[in-house]
Amino acid sequence: MKQIIEKLIRESISSINKDNSITPELLSNIRVDRTKDRAHGDFASNIAMMLAKPLKKNPRQIAQDIIDNIPSDPHISKIEIAGPGFINFFANKASIADALEEMNNDARLGVKKISNPDTIVVDYSAPNVAKEMAVHHIRSTVIGDAVVRVLEFLGNNVIRANHIGDWGTQFGMLIAYLEKKENESGAGMDLSDFEAFYREAKECYDTDEEFAVKARSYVVQLQGGDEYCRKMWKKLVTMTMVQNQKLYDRLDVTLSDKDIMGESLYNDMLPGVVEDLLNKGIAQEDQGAIVVYLPQFKNKEGKPLGNIVRKNDGGYLYTTTDIACIKYRVEKLKATRILYFTDSRQQQHLETVWAICEKAGYTNSKVSLEHCPFGMMLGKDGKPFKTRSGGTVKLRDVLDEAEAG
Ligand code: ARG
Repeated sequence: MKQIIEKLIRESISSINKDNSITPELLSNIRVDRTKDRAHGDFASNIAMMLAKPLKKNPRQIAQDIIDNIPSDPHISKIEIAGPGFINFFANKASIADALEEMNNDARLGVKKISNPDTIVVDYSAPNVAKEMAVHHIRSTVIGDAVVRVLEFLGNNVIRANHIGDWGTQFGMLIAYLEKKENESGAGMDLSDFEAFYREAKECYDTDEEFAVKARSYVVQLQGGDEYCRKMWKKLVTMTMVQNQKLYDRLDVTLSDKDIMGESLYNDMLPGVVEDLLNKGIAQEDQGAIVVYLPQFKNKEGKPLGNIVRKNDGGYLYTTTDIACIKYRVEKLKATRILYFTDSRQQQHLETVWAICEKAGYTNSKVSLEHCPFGMMLGKDGKPFKTRSGGTVKLRDVLDEAEAG
């Protein structure tokens, strides 16, 4: 409506502006606002008052000239001058009703598909394997899914990327513990309490040397593609995601198995990426580790902050995976926008990753990288929300409680 009125005012002014005394600059001042008082119509403009000084004319006279030359339009039922020279517009209710009716009869509610769709990767939800989905995952999940639906409705090519935490050294310990549990029960097990599973696995790792040795060897075997370890790892991923899918369904979220693009997907790329960063002079060796220094991020002493991309034991990090992940999304998926839905604590992590990717040419100015952060869920003490015993609050429990009302 505002745009329609602005256009009408513009048309009127151009027909009375025979001597070009109203410059385009003056015209750029046209503003249409909602009125505060319905007696003054629905919209008002102060353009006549804005023009009074430069034209050295009475604002009410200018307002009258504008009104006299405004083309008639079905959206407007009445135009009046008010006060020192406001122009008040009354919307034609019948035409608004018609427009609403038309939208209501259209399956797309009158929203047209955009003409230049983007390929948008939306990175959201992203829970971790063998862990309960925590209360903070609900925000990433539901905000991300709402945005996905809107972007898709507008006609974009949207790729849902559930960047689950399905890789890392903890899997040696988890596989060894799953094996122990399966041997004990003599059958496949149904993993429903991840919290306990993870805690017990860690306990075995810390107290049982034999177990720890086995766990460490499983990490190496898993990374080397050993069939048994892959199978056990896959079991853990599946069990976790079966549970999480129940939560997605309860929340009416559109994520499914085919959207899982976890950290493991980028594992094979990691050695090549680190090699490439070294060759390009972006990364350097420091006490056996491979580090990228970025001048824009400083540590407490004001020196450039070092970002480790490979530890001195050869292990890779969350950062390395996210670097490879951008390369994949830009090169393979041809993303033109990448949106991340995480809490605000990951801001610096993402900015670091983006800066490294820009330097390495894994992304370019045509790709828009966007962090869509949300705040943290804090307890009464102002610290991240925890259960009374200090554990993370499970999303499952929150939903149960909410439903029980
Ligand atoms: N798994 C992470 C977490 O639970 C979130 C991952 C976000 N996405 C990413 N590309 N880093 O906090």
